[in-house]
Amino acid sequence: MIDIERAKTQFLEYANQFDLEEQQLKRKLGHSFRVMDISNKIAKKLNLEEEKIQIATLIGLLHDIARFEQYTQFKTFSDLKSFDHGDYGVQILEDNNTIRKYIDTDKYDTFIKNAIKNHNKFEIDKSISRRRITVL
Ligand SMILES: [Fe+2]
Repeated sequence: MIDIERAKTQFLEYANQFDLEEQQLKRKLGHSFRVMDISNKIAKKLNLEEEKIQIATLIGLLHDIARFEQYTQFKTFSDLKSFDHGDYGVQILEDNNTIRKYIDTDKYDTFIKNAIKNHNKFEIDKSISRRRITVL
């Protein structure tokens, strides 16, 4: 089971390293929490089991984690003018095994990272099969 409240606290702690007085970053923080709520609602609507609902909720929260670094470094949300924020989000979670701050088990690591990596892509990586997605 995932402690979503702990994940939210960790996410806020992460975001607080950046200048949240900056409107663009404040907006991204709000966006992350809204996407988290919507992911939760969609997962519930799909009648997923509790653990899967929690994974979906966590992915919603974390999907744009790289936006803070991106805007702080480059003053833009354009991936073309800076870095790919899906790929970079995965890197953030991999650095020092940061993902463990958000979820104790490593059971879903690949799934979570694939979701974050692919959320901003024109096309979802073909190597991620439908089976892989439904396995969750
Ligand atoms: Fe995004």
